[in-house]
Amino acid sequence: MITIALVAQKGGTGKTTLAVTLAVAAEQAGQTAVILDIDPQATACKWGDRREAGTPVVLDAQPARLGRALETAAAGGVDLVVIDTPARLESAALEAARFSSLVVMPCRPLIFDLETVPTSQQVVTLAGGPPVVAVLNATPPRGRRAAETRAALQEFGIVVCPHTLGQRAAVGDAVAMGLVAAEFMPSSRAAAEARDVADWIMREAGATDSVLMKETGCRNGQT
Ligand SMILES: Nc1ncnc2c1ncn2[C@@H]1O[C@H](COP(=O)(O)OP(=O)(O)OP(=O)(O)O)[C@@H](O)[C@H]1O
Ligand SMILES: [Mg+2]
Repeated sequence: MITIALVAQKGGTGKTTLAVTLAVAAEQAGQTAVILDIDPQATACKWGDRREAGTPVVLDAQPARLGRALETAAAGGVDLVVIDTPARLESAALEAARFSSLVVMPCRPLIFDLETVPTSQQVVTLAGGPPVVAVLNATPPRGRRAAETRAALQEFGIVVCPHTLGQRAAVGDAVAMGLVAAEFMPSSRAAAEARDVADWIMREAGATDSVLMKETGCRNGQT
């Protein structure tokens, strides 16, 4: 079982959006995915409430019960657990990182996001240091901001996903309906970017062969 935590001390960087995107991508690839929502805002749970499909299962969890929840998931044959953590709550992020094989840090090309990255890194180090990767999220279509943010993250010593997630209306429209972009607009740029990012993250998390890429059979919208 692969366990991935979405961590960023800054609010609104895209943790929940990427959490549900990863879990749906895994389900579409024939895997069983569970989202553990340890954010008191319960945004992932509310997304699950709006969703018609029964999977991925979204569970309302508490940081102190994560170990037990993960044991139950492993015993139930779950392939992927995605832990969605709250912003500004270091103890919750620390607990999630402690149990994860990979920490994913979404970061928008904004100084407010970037300046909180060292704090998030410290939390992960305190947790015993699972690998951390960053994903550039909500990047503008033009300009140098994404490249500059990538360079700044690399200076912090963080591996940055080579694929970026653009600022796309389909992303917000999809989650409003309990979907992700790949379901709402499967041939959109947003969906193609999400597939590339999900695939890369799964490889970083230790998936030996990319089930995601093989099963969806398409990258960048090409079948
Ligand atoms: N790539 C994107 N394109 C367009 N909108 C996006 C994108 N990623 C996220 N959003 C939107 O940005 C907002 C914040 O995203 P999200 O809730 O995933 O962030 P978060 O890090 O989980 O926030 P919080 O810290 O409050 O839990 C949401 O309205 C979401 O729809
Ligand atoms: Mg969130």
